[in-house]
Amino acid sequence: MSLIELNNVDISFASKGKKKGSVNALVGMNLTIDEGEIIAVVGESGCGKTTLGKVIADIYRPTKGEVLFHGKDIHKLSKKEYQEYRLGVQMVHQDSYAALNPNKTIAQSLILPLLRHKLAKNNEEALDILFEYFNEVGLNPPELFLEKYPHQLSGGQRQRILLARALSVRPKLIVADEPVSMVDVSLRISLLNLMAKMNQKYKISFIYITHDLGTARYIAAHGKIMVMYLGRMIESNKIQEAIKNPMHPYFQALVAAVPEADSRRSEFAKELPLRSLDMPDLLNLPEGCKFHPRCPYYKDICMQEEPKLRKLNGGIVACHRAEECMKKTETEE
Ligand SMILES: Nc1ncnc2c1ncn2[C@@H]1O[C@H](COP(=O)(O)OP(=O)(O)OP(=O)(O)O)[C@@H](O)[C@H]1O
Ligand code: SF4
Ligand SMILES: [Mg+2]
Repeated sequence: MSLIELNNVDISFASKGKKKGSVNALVGMNLTIDEGEIIAVVGESGCGKTTLGKVIADIYRPTKGEVLFHGKDIHKLSKKEYQEYRLGVQMVHQDSYAALNPNKTIAQSLILPLLRHKLAKNNEEALDILFEYFNEVGLNPPELFLEKYPHQLSGGQRQRILLARALSVRPKLIVADEPVSMVDVSLRISLLNLMAKMNQKYKISFIYITHDLGTARYIAAHGKIMVMYLGRMIESNKIQEAIKNPMHPYFQALVAAVPEADSRRSEFAKELPLRSLDMPDLLNLPEGCKFHPRCPYYKDICMQEEPKLRKLNGGIVACHRAEECMKKTETEE
């Protein structure tokens, strides 16, 4: 049985802009996360990555569909089971400032959950645990950071505190939303290594949300990747295979944009520019495949029918013409 399962999850929000309407941030999302699994979630800004993370952590409630924890709907759990789920699923938020109480010191914020969940008997024990994790995330000496208020720290330091907070409660799953985006490049690899170590040592699963295929490939080296476009999953596969043989034209373009990901693909990008670099108007999405206004391979069917996810090449893809698109990239190499 999977640790977490999303069944046909939709979520829509009232539009924030001047134009009235609703934005479908997740559409028909199906996903399973097994114990010890690492899944990297990629896609451009606004495609729904954070929303997906917040649904998994029950910060947003789906408009339709369900989230299961050990096979049970999270909204039908007993109080005790729900507590176990909330402790078991931790989120490292993209917005590190909003995720910490501005009126409390870091110690005051982080000690409380350890006491509440009986992971420490008293303040002293809680501080011991925090010292250990602060050292692990490179916040040395820990006491210097524990006494501070969130606004007295840099974005990268706050991100590391959020990671230490998540790790300190020994969760089953960490949803890490761009967890190293503000951390100095020199520290990034050591934090990614720390996550990989926690994954191996304690079988903690990770949903690693990022714009960056390089770090996704690094942390999820033996895991999966899931590619999102406008709230939909459009491709998923083992990460190494996915990057070697991207199936969906959108993902082909993402891979091509990272020269070091695969040099042959960057050649292909020069050959095959997207028809448009802009995302469609979220309040007025195109018919058929939502990618067709940008896709160099579109045909009539793409404008009429939205492609469903189907099995291909050991993974899944939502594209009517994935076979042809993959062949085209081969012949152009
Ligand atoms: N609380 C909310 N209220 C209204 N709209 C929202 C809310 N949260 C997200 N959205 C909308 O849902 C869509 C997906 O947003 P989301 O933040 O999940 O994207 P993202 O992939 O995380 O983007 P980024 O890479 O910039 O972090 C966007 O159109 C966003 O404006
Ligand atoms: S379904 Fe058609 S438009 Fe959509 S990605 Fe595939 S080829 Fe392009
Ligand atoms: Mg986000």
